[in-house]
Formats: sequence, structure tokens, C-alpha cells
Amino acid sequence: MTTTVSVAGGDFRPYEVVVGRGLLAGLGARVAPLARGRTVVITDETVAGLHGKAALASLKAAGVPARLLTVPPGEGSKSFAELERVIDRMLAFQLDRTDVIVALGGGVVGDLAGLAAALFMRGIDFVQVPTTLLAQVDSSVGGKTAIDTPRGKNLVGAFHQPRLVVADIDVLATLPERQLRSGWAEVLKHGLICDAAFFDWLADTSVSGGAAGAAGDPAALERAVVRSVEIKSAIVGEDEKEAGRRALLNLGHTFGHAIEAELGFDETKLTHGEAVALGCALAFRFSAAGGLCPPDEAERVGTVIAAAGLPTRLDQAGAFQSAALVGRMTGDKKAEGGRLTLILARRIGEAFTAKDVDAAALTAFLDRELSGS
Ligand code: GLY
Repeated sequence: MTTTVSVAGGDFRPYEVVVGRGLLAGLGARVAPLARGRTVVITDETVAGLHGKAALASLKAAGVPARLLTVPPGEGSKSFAELERVIDRMLAFQLDRTDVIVALGGGVVGDLAGLAAALFMRGIDFVQVPTTLLAQVDSSVGGKTAIDTPRGKNLVGAFHQPRLVVADIDVLATLPERQLRSGWAEVLKHGLICDAAFFDWLADTSVSGGAAGAAGDPAALERAVVRSVEIKSAIVGEDEKEAGRRALLNLGHTFGHAIEAELGFDETKLTHGEAVALGCALAFRFSAAGGLCPPDEAERVGTVIAAAGLPTRLDQAGAFQSAALVGRMTGDKKAEGGRLTLILARRIGEAFTAKDVDAAALTAFLDRELSGS
């Protein structure tokens, strides 16, 4: 079964996110109506080896002239140097504004190719074909594109919505288990933000429950991706530029980002998804500590995250100082005018933006977390 979710609202041109199994083979037929000229498929070396041939064959069979442009795998490709090289190749291929970029890969490829598409000749169309769970449920939808600088991640970017997103569940079968579980953190996050019934299903370990998705069950993954995309699309449709409600999608991210930064963004120690999972557990416990959320809800969040093989305690990630973490959190680019803004929760499925969070209370909370009390 194929599900189509519309992303519509605000100032951008509406587009569809198509979720289903075996979609890569039909990619060309979906891209052909958008491609007036040629197509360049931007991908990384790993994904090129796994899915590059299938994507090119499908585009060519649909009459869309296509070639591959490959970047090295990993966050290092989200750089000015790689962006310049990609745009230079696009110019050398003599692309023009009638052409379409296809971003085939995970979040790094999507962010880099999306930014190249936003900048090339003041903007050309691009199609997202996310090949990781994290990219399918989060980064491919919503039009955030970016590269990193030595001063921080995602600091240079543009909002540039794709014309189409094609999320093929079958490509997740080749994902390393740790990456799949990392993407699952963003799935759990969507339930925690605004859909308690979805979270209940994700926690359900029975045959018809969603918990099997974290271990790669395709039927559970498909339903989880569809619901995540529905939730994200609705939020982006209301608030494309993150003036309000879109900030809720950062649940777990301010804690998570501080932890990742302290670890030098070393994905071998902690992946982004693991940091988000740990960040969600901390955000719920901090909410409970402040009397905002019932403690048993925060405890359940931790139990469900742990059951998915994801971290819930700081000592699982490394050794930290509370002051260093709070320093990172107040320096977070989501902080407004030096005040600490955090996404907290009233209960599962009811996240909210808390402004003016007391840094001293946060430090005391993290000290308790770090001492295990
Ligand atoms: N990943 C958060 C957002 O797209 O807004």
C-alpha cells in the first residue's frame, strides 16, 4: 500500500510525501512530470553503491536523462567546500533552472543537496528520496537545508521546500541496526509531542503493536513513517519558518545537542538519534521535576525509549559536568536573547515551549541526574 501525505500551508508550494514499499523502482515515473530538463541525483558513496543504479535506471526508463553526483559519506560533507564542489559540478553539467535535483540519501545528503538546489541560479526544484529512517520521518520533510561551519552545526542554510518526497520503506532493510534505532528516536518524539495514542502503539510489543518497528519490521515501520510524516507535515504547514509551533519538533534536541557537542559530535560515541532519545527522556524528567508533568508519565517515557535500545541516562553517553551542559544549552541557537527556551511536556502527547527556563533549576536537575539520585 502506498500512502500520500500532503504538505501544505503558509507561503510555500504544496507537495506530496509518498510512503510505501518498493517505491524506488517507480521513482522515474514520479519525477518525470516535474523534470522539464535533466536530473542530477546527488548521493553519497555508500548509498550510490546500494541504490544508485536502481534510481538511475528508473529515471532513464521514464525518459528523464540522469547522472549521479557523489559526495563522501558523513557529516563532513555538510561543508562550504563540498557545497562549492557540488554547485561547480552542477554548472559543469550545464544544468539550468528547468532541471531537477534528486537527493538520494540520509540527512547529510538531503541537507547539502537541498541547499545546493536553493542556491543554484537562485533556486531550482529538488526531490527528496530519503534512505534513512531519520531522513524519512524528519529531515526530508519541511524544507530545512543546511551545512555546518567550524562554529557549529546547521548554521548556514535556507528554507527550500522539496517538490516531492519519496520514502521507500524497503531501502531501510539495508540500514545498520544502530542507525535504524536512531531514526526510531525521532518517531517516538512525534508521539511524545502531540499524539499519545501513537506513542501507545509505538510502545506496544504485541503482534499488531508498533514496537517491532525499532527492530526493522517493515509493516510497523511503514505505519510509523506515515504517522510521523503526517504529524511533521501538519506542524510545518502551520509554521514553516519556526516562528512558533514548529519549535516543538525540537523536543529532546536542546538537551541532545548539548550532549552531542560535549562529545565532539562523535557519532561512534552517540548518534544524533541517540542524543534525541536521551534528550526526550531528560526533557520529561525535568518537566516532572518542575511539577509540570506527572512523574509516572516521565518514567514511562524512559521505559519505552530504553525498550527500543536507546539511551535514557547521561552515564550511558559519557561523563559530563552540569555547568558545561547548561552553558551549551544557553548558547544554543534556539535560545532567544540569552533566555533559556526548552521544549517541555505536560504529559505524553502534550509538549509545549517553555520560555525563561531557570538555568539554576536546570543545573540542579542535571546534578541530580549525574549523581544518579
Ligand atoms: N527537525 C526539526 C524541524 O524540521 O523543524
